[in-house]
Amino acid sequence: MNDTQQHVKWFRDSSPYINAHRGKTFVLHLDGEAIDHPNFSNIIGDIVLLHSLGVKLVVVHGAAPQIERQLAANGATSEFVNKVRVTTPDILPLVQQAVGTLRSDIEARLSMGLINSPQHGAEMLVISGNFIRAKPLGVIDGIDYHNTGIVRKVNTKAIRQQLDSGATLLISPLGYSLSGEIFNANSTQVATEVATALMAEKLIFFTDQGLRDAEGSVISELQLDDIDESSLDTYSPLRLSKAACLRGVARCHLISYTEDGAALEELFTRDGTGTQISRVSYEQIRPAGANDVAAIIELIAPLEEQGILVRRSRELLESEVHHFTVIERDGMIVSCAALYPFETKGELACLVTHPEYRDNDRGELLLEKIQQLATAQGLEALFVLTTHSTHWFVERGFRPVNLQDLPPSRQSLYNYQRNSKLLEKPLL
Ligand SMILES: CC(C)(COP(=O)(O)OP(=O)(O)OC[C@H]1O[C@@H](n2cnc3c(N)ncnc32)[C@H](O)[C@@H]1OP(=O)(O)O)[C@@H](O)C(=O)NCCC(=O)NCCS
Repeated sequence: MNDTQQHVKWFRDSSPYINAHRGKTFVLHLDGEAIDHPNFSNIIGDIVLLHSLGVKLVVVHGAAPQIERQLAANGATSEFVNKVRVTTPDILPLVQQAVGTLRSDIEARLSMGLINSPQHGAEMLVISGNFIRAKPLGVIDGIDYHNTGIVRKVNTKAIRQQLDSGATLLISPLGYSLSGEIFNANSTQVATEVATALMAEKLIFFTDQGLRDAEGSVISELQLDDIDESSLDTYSPLRLSKAACLRGVARCHLISYTEDGAALEELFTRDGTGTQISRVSYEQIRPAGANDVAAIIELIAPLEEQGILVRRSRELLESEVHHFTVIERDGMIVSCAALYPFETKGELACLVTHPEYRDNDRGELLLEKIQQLATAQGLEALFVLTTHSTHWFVERGFRPVNLQDLPPSRQSLYNYQRNSKLLEKPLL
């Protein structure tokens, strides 16, 4: 494959991800070391690119080495207890100076956009403000942490308003109390609280080298049960990723800030280069079995009554349940989908998520799974007949087709009365 063909293939392969990420909220955490690193200019470029692809971005930054330098330049020092800086009133002004300077540096660099690229000149509005209400960490084991704080509340309404207006949020580790005091919080905790409060689709921690196994290879995927937080620091990104997933963030990623393009690879290719942490194991995606028939009926019955899905009798479902994949959460079937092969193509049918569990990527996860199953069966395309969810499928790479495009054995089963829309997606 020559360079152009490779480029075209890469572009086509990433288009489902571009569609999937558009309009979603990602919280990115960059610590002070990441900002100091020479690769930071590339990360800035990637942030601008993500913004231009319609991703709603909240960037939370740390400032530990910058604060250290500011203290040293002024002959001051600070004490760390359990890896947490004690921010005394004496050093607070220096912390403010370091954080303020860094924040305006980042704003300036985000304003610059992507030099020497088609993104150059792309306007990006960056907003910072008092979105974080903080409270003191307090006195722990006799140690007064003074102006070191933790997040008390995130002003999600204000953040959402800014994101909806197209702005990117830049949030520093400084939070404010109702009485006007300033607190220096740990930026990983700030990022986690922001992502959780916003129920972000992704929380991305830029770390020095990602997560590696004993052989030094990157661990590409971790499920919540695999993470033993008892051995991890309070503010370790891995520990906070688990906490965020348990509290509703769909996926967390640990990505290296030293590697050029690591974020783009992680977000726009199947395997990525970082570590993805998801709550899938908390919820299991698995093939359906005979014991699931009653639960599937319960899930789809209301939609059959509304005419959204074709009615299936219990007998039919019992004989066809092996076509189904389900998502089980705490013993409850919350989502299902079926794959019926017809000659060279597969029909994706009966894709349903329980109304209380919608909008958390479960439909997307099932679609991915059905695509994998269809590819493994050697099918060339996936098609769907839908009366109500055309846009959902179109946004995920399906295109309208005619009845004649369906496999002949499926054409003969088409119900003209339902007049369903026909959509198809090639399997690459
Ligand atoms: C379509 C359906 C399966 C999606 O399930 P889900 O678990 O919520 O899926 P996801 O979380 O991956 O996607 C949700 C997103 O799709 C959007 N969406 C839901 N239904 C949609 C529709 N009919 N058209 C366009 N977008 C739709 C949601 O607003 C949400 O968007 P957001 O992320 O920007 O907030 C679910 O809405 C459902 O059960 N619908 C009724 C059954 C149906 O029509 N099935 C398809 C025919 S087989």
